Amino acid sequence: MAKKTIKDVDLKDKKVLVRVDFNVPLKDGVITNDNRIVAALPTIKYVIENGGKAILFSHLGRVKTEEDKAGKSLKPVAERLGELLGKPVTFVPETRGTELETAVNNMKDGDVLVFENTRFEDIDGKKESGNDAELGKYWASLGDVFVNDAFGTAHRAHASNVGIASTGIPTVAGFLMEKEIKFVGEAVTAPKRPFVAILGGAKVSDKIGVIENLISKADKILIGGGMTYTFYKAKGMNIGNSLVEEDKVALAKELIEKAGDKLILPIDSITAAEFSNDVPTEEHTGDVPDGQMGLDIGPETIALFAQALEGAKTVVWNGPMGVFEMSNFAKGTIGVCEAIANLADATTIIGGGDSAAAAIQLGFADKFTHISTGGGASLELLEGKELPGLAAINDK
Ligand code: 3PG
Repeated sequence: MAKKTIKDVDLKDKKVLVRVDFNVPLKDGVITNDNRIVAALPTIKYVIENGGKAILFSHLGRVKTEEDKAGKSLKPVAERLGELLGKPVTFVPETRGTELETAVNNMKDGDVLVFENTRFEDIDGKKESGNDAELGKYWASLGDVFVNDAFGTAHRAHASNVGIASTGIPTVAGFLMEKEIKFVGEAVTAPKRPFVAILGGAKVSDKIGVIENLISKADKILIGGGMTYTFYKAKGMNIGNSLVEEDKVALAKELIEKAGDKLILPIDSITAAEFSNDVPTEEHTGDVPDGQMGLDIGPETIALFAQALEGAKTVVWNGPMGVFEMSNFAKGTIGVCEAIANLADATTIIGGGDSAAAAIQLGFADKFTHISTGGGASLELLEGKELPGLAAINDK
């Protein structure tokens, strides 16, 4: 990565602003998945071990009104971080003002502080998510150096990433940002070949940009998940009651023509009469009969995909193969996880979101080279787009 990293700056005695992505799932104030906090630890530890004062901040959820603030405080996240670090973490329930400034000025080298959800600034005119220049300038004024480690937010131009960087404060990437760009970014820009992409999920519309970008870059593109049936429809096949995006059928046809042999579609499906785990399932090769809906790829497809993956040196996977949350329709996603896990000498990457959740839930987390912490950010990187948060980091 031709960007400066945290190793390029001196942190001793410095107030180090660290933008992290602590946008974690919370249920009744309890964090249900702390992966993003764990993934930020190397950067945070490096700051404190090198004598810096770590001032951490992040957005959490989407906040438009005063009522939206409920349940979106970063306080539980700061507490979890303290447990993970095994040291006290100061939480400041403000995004600006005297309390925050005093707390920052009282910090000693090696201290860690988290301030409140940056999107609480959105209530008063989308200052955070609209990249308000004054807000970026204010946050930049709290520190000496800015470390952007929020890969998950890199596709957003917020005051807390792009705004701070735009003030001219030295801006470098943290270890997580560096790692994500190395794996997800390089998979697309400099893959070891053969490079196989596996794309699933419900909608073609979510993956159009990725498919278009990968047609010229990947050696094979395997398609699974609900979007299969929009492709089936484009081929004139019967899809029964399967999910379809009617307005994307013509585009699916174009993609099939453009990609030629590279695009590999499922050859069989596990179907059911209802979107439920409690009704009998059927297995169908090719067309899905009337009254049935395709909810997973079938065993012939799992074998076909495993064969297509043989010898792959780079694999990027984004989107589950079926409704993996229901045990009747999880076999396709498990089968793909197993096929990837069996590859020797391959760099295997999950591009965040649902597929990351699936691999973790199904017990395959340690079988991949890298599981991205960014859903939208990794998709945009796979689409070949420039990420504003990354672009704003100083070049080497
Ligand atoms: C994410 O979870 O993808 C990032 O934290 C960005 O969140 P957002 O989609 O609410 O901007």
